[in-house]
Amino acid sequence: MTFQAKFPQGFLWGGATSANQVEGAYNLGGKGLSTADVVEFVEPEDRTSMKIPFPSIDEINNILKTDENRVFPKRFGIDFYHNYKEDIALLKELGFKTFRISIGWARIFPNGTETEPNEEGLAFYDRVFDEMKKHGIEPLVTLSHYEIPLHLSKEYGGFYSREVVDYFAHYAKTVFHRYKDKVKYWITFNEINSLLMAPYIGTGLVQDFVPEGKLLEAKYQTAHHQLVANAKAIKACHEIIPDAQIGCMVIGMINYPMSPHPEDAFAAHQDMHKTFFFTDVFTRGAYPSYMKRFFAENNIHVNMEIGDEKLLRDNTVDYIPFSYYMSGVSARPEQGGEKAGGNLLSNLKNPYLEASDWGWQIDPVGLRTLLNMFHERYEKPLFIVENGLGAFDKVEEDGSVHDPYRMDYLRSHIEQMKEAIGDGVDLWGYTTWGPIDLVSFSTSEMSKRYGFIYVDQDDYGNGSLKRSKKDSFYWYQKVIASNGEDLA
Ligand code: BG6
Repeated sequence: MTFQAKFPQGFLWGGATSANQVEGAYNLGGKGLSTADVVEFVEPEDRTSMKIPFPSIDEINNILKTDENRVFPKRFGIDFYHNYKEDIALLKELGFKTFRISIGWARIFPNGTETEPNEEGLAFYDRVFDEMKKHGIEPLVTLSHYEIPLHLSKEYGGFYSREVVDYFAHYAKTVFHRYKDKVKYWITFNEINSLLMAPYIGTGLVQDFVPEGKLLEAKYQTAHHQLVANAKAIKACHEIIPDAQIGCMVIGMINYPMSPHPEDAFAAHQDMHKTFFFTDVFTRGAYPSYMKRFFAENNIHVNMEIGDEKLLRDNTVDYIPFSYYMSGVSARPEQGGEKAGGNLLSNLKNPYLEASDWGWQIDPVGLRTLLNMFHERYEKPLFIVENGLGAFDKVEEDGSVHDPYRMDYLRSHIEQMKEAIGDGVDLWGYTTWGPIDLVSFSTSEMSKRYGFIYVDQDDYGNGSLKRSKKDSFYWYQKVIASNGEDLA
């Protein structure tokens, strides 16, 4: 008998964005500067490579002094701040069941340290959630997506300092109270495991706070603080919105061994810990045993306060949201191997896979394997909150964009999601990355497009900002309308 897997009724189809990649209006409505506002555009010749900053305070101050000659695309985004109504109407037309956005923390607390929130910032998200509700779209909201108020970074080194845990908890409680009737799906941190590769982006850690030769220890101290902050937010969310679901997100990465050599297999196993360390803590509620040896061998001491262990144990996630773009290959150190592309994780090339124009290795079956791994390890509901293909799009004379490559990428991943559901995985939903073209996280360019909706804007912020539908718009509309049955 052939087995036919199906998406469950009520499956949450949609798309995902972040405040700093779409909103713009970086200095309007009482918003403070965020860590993303000082991240510069990557020049054309470097566009396919990664340039993730890890600045010092001097560098940040220097950027602020000389910024009129530089390009900061995350300051203008795609002007979602002013276009949200039109954008949400287009998502409704696509048939979205859910839309993932993030709240710009610095819109609510401009410095991060205030007691009273900025009403104008809160009111903006009220309007956005109301607009979603009007169209029957369920909000899925991230509290911190690759940005924190810049002040917290400069004054405290971000989450490296314990104080920031409490500032975050205050922010989380504030928005839970405000939006408790409007938002039921929450994510605390975007890709929390990214801090091991890019500590400034998600946590605000800057060079000045890191003692000489202690970067690895500083990263794990910062990780501990974010995990405690996550637990505090989960506790508050469960108290304030008892019918909410809250999770913490990771980069979903699967590593294959380069060869059947047992040491390559062990290297792949170890590399998976870059993800599992975080999911183990926030799902099982305790540090995994393998970290003891890792900390001892790397001379890492993490300061924990009395009560932290209990807090982590008592406040675990309701579901696991994760992104998935590619798989990786691991090998024992002496094995060598050619490097593959990616925005954060550094990997070896897999000869069996094709790659995007940015070198990201495309592996739909890896998604099925990863879904099964998470499911078997934790038996918790899963949510793919980012997946998609960044590509160069060509606008034809009549304004159309033919993007079969995007449909192929998404189709092949959706097919594997369906198989995973057939394997028994409890998958709640799927939000593709950047349903409307947006500013790239890693290179801050517009040329790398993920959307079903084209935005007329170039890398420097020139353009009419007009939105138009690509071929993939009509395709995804059909996918959603058929609940994943019609993928043609
Ligand atoms: C994820 C991030 O890592 O990848 C997003 O959560 C990001 O913010 C996405 O945009 C795609 O990466 P990039 O570098 O192509 O924008």
